Amino acid sequence: MRIVLLGAPGSGKGTQAKLLVEKYKIPQISTGDLLRAAVSAGTELGKKAKAAMDAGQLVTDDIVLGIIQERLSKPDAKSGFILDGFPRNIPQAQALDAMLARLGQPLQLALLVDVDSEVLMKRLTGRRTCSQCGAIYNVYFSPSKSSGKCDKCGGSLMQRSDDNEETVRNRLRVYEEQTAPLVSYYKAQGKLRTVRGVGSINDIFKNITDIIEAQIRPLAAVMAQGA
Ligand code: AP5
Repeated sequence: MRIVLLGAPGSGKGTQAKLLVEKYKIPQISTGDLLRAAVSAGTELGKKAKAAMDAGQLVTDDIVLGIIQERLSKPDAKSGFILDGFPRNIPQAQALDAMLARLGQPLQLALLVDVDSEVLMKRLTGRRTCSQCGAIYNVYFSPSKSSGKCDKCGGSLMQRSDDNEETVRNRLRVYEEQTAPLVSYYKAQGKLRTVRGVGSINDIFKNITDIIEAQIRPLAAVMAQGA
């Protein structure tokens, strides 16, 4: 199962990706998470990426493609993956297609999580993430039971440094200019499906899994018959 999750910052890609990981036992590959880990570890790559991330701009393609290439070559990605936050522009999408063609494993589905832009600012400025297990909360929509602590593991909840109003505005602008054109890119390939990303997280997840079952399972069955 090889899926790209598309959608604006705050549309719920990370939230839904975590549920997909639990259900389908395939890894979530989030370039944002990989870059933040590199920044925290103070690696050379992290130092190069930090300024762009703080400004809400895209990190350069050569850096991002390097980390994706390395991540996709790990054994756990052989049986599938959910790409979250990658690709972010047409050159990245073309590079991904070329990488997957070399592996003989083309992308099966690009799933757009569609959310009206008015709600994104509140979702992002209200987001809190567990520093230990990565669980995602929101002070407005889905707060943890005990303030500042994760319900699942008791870890401290953190606010991302790029979830401030000014940086969010830049991220939303960059999305419209550079990432939104991917919708047409994947539509032209016949791989685009859209799900409304508003309402209960579980209802959205059900709609996503319905699309996956309809789109990917029959494809897998056909391939198995042909093998
Ligand atoms: P990245 O980490 O990818 O951030 P993003 O795309 O801006 O997306 P987010 O993680 O902010 O949002 P999400 O859609 O995952 O929403 P979430 O589920 O958390 O990128 C960060 C930076 O890294 C970029 O700006 C760039 O600099 C760099 N970068 C990353 N990838 C790159 C690439 N490929 N190329 C170049 N640069 C790259 O949900 C948000 C909030 O909403 C949460 O609080 C959640 O609880 C809440 N929520 C979710 N669903 C619902 C719902 N249904 N109802 C109410 N609230 C909800």
